[in-house]
Amino acid sequence: MIRFGVIGCGHWGRNYLRVLSELGDACRVVEMCDASRSSVEVMRRKFPLVNATLSAADLLTHPGIDAVVIATPAGTHAELAVKALKAGKHVLVEKPLATRLEDAVRVSGEARDSGRVLLVGHTFRYNDAVRKLKEIVTDRSFGRPYYLAARRNHLGLIRPDVSAVWDLAPHDIEIFSWIVGSQPDSVSAVGASFLKEGRPDVAFATLHYSGGVVGNIQVSWIDSNKVREVVVIGDRKRVVFDDLNALEPVRVFDKGAEVSGDVNSFGEFKLQLRDGDIHSPRVEMREPLRVQCEHFIDCVAHGTAPLTGGAEGADVVAALEAIDGSMSRGGAPVDVQRWR
Ligand SMILES: NC(=O)c1ccc[n+]([C@@H]2O[C@H](COP(=O)([O-])OP(=O)(O)OC[C@H]3O[C@@H](n4cnc5c(N)ncnc54)[C@H](O)[C@@H]3O)[C@@H](O)[C@H]2O)c1
Repeated sequence: MIRFGVIGCGHWGRNYLRVLSELGDACRVVEMCDASRSSVEVMRRKFPLVNATLSAADLLTHPGIDAVVIATPAGTHAELAVKALKAGKHVLVEKPLATRLEDAVRVSGEARDSGRVLLVGHTFRYNDAVRKLKEIVTDRSFGRPYYLAARRNHLGLIRPDVSAVWDLAPHDIEIFSWIVGSQPDSVSAVGASFLKEGRPDVAFATLHYSGGVVGNIQVSWIDSNKVREVVVIGDRKRVVFDDLNALEPVRVFDKGAEVSGDVNSFGEFKLQLRDGDIHSPRVEMREPLRVQCEHFIDCVAHGTAPLTGGAEGADVVAALEAIDGSMSRGGAPVDVQRWR
């Protein structure tokens, strides 16, 4: 049994408390912590058997805790994660791993040196519909992927500490990297800050991958039309993941455009448009956060590397920094730093 401490009992931390309490004998939450007294009081009433504290330092030095979940605001992740790892705890930290690449690399290095498990909460890697998307795109019948497009728009949740890019785009950057099988080489992005100077509320980022694949990510927390969508377009098919469609989260369009023959020779050049069926594969959906927590517990129990470890978390932070860099240069292409 893995004994957990949960730091941060806000909107998302509460989900961790619920999910971990539903995992039976695999784990037990020993202590929860939040810097806000009112959050602690709410959680004390919900989980009366879990010890509650206002001090993360107390929780981190608790000898009866094996693993720590960090679900606090982004700017606190790196420092809390390093402290937890130094205290010998395994760490499940929310995305983004850090708000600067050098901090993300430091946390990743600390996990490696301490031999503890570090999992970054890139929840979509544990989402059965995204796993189906990956399966479809990597199947030979999909053909050659041309480009990916993600839209993550909604009115709110507007965070006081980070931009819409750092809050929302980590999901799509990670999904894209997994599907393409590599990190973006460079990005160009534009964004705009309407609510608070210097902190974009909307952004449009184009990510360039080796082999010519292109990805586009649109994020906004000031758009009243809620969209949560990832589309992959290939020469033979188009596949859509719609996170708001519980009935048909994945739809495959057996349609595409491809060129055959020599493009330079008019006689041999052929453009083929395929217009086939549309179908929705069956997806057995489990709660992604539960799948993620079970994977973390499994990694701790067997000493194995998580699917979304420190390196993957730092890769996402490198892409986020490049997006910021490009936005501050008016959309000029910026290389994504190779830190590994
Ligand atoms: N993976 C996902 O799908 C997903 C979804 C939602 C949120 N998140 C991430 O989870 C994190 C938390 O988001 P949220 O929506 O719960 O935010 P929130 O503001 O609702 O909760 C954060 C909580 O942390 C507490 N806190 C702040 N600093 C602290 C400290 N040093 N020690 C202890 N408690 C502290 C605050 O009092 C607050 O209750 C964010 O990093 C966010 O990006 C991830």
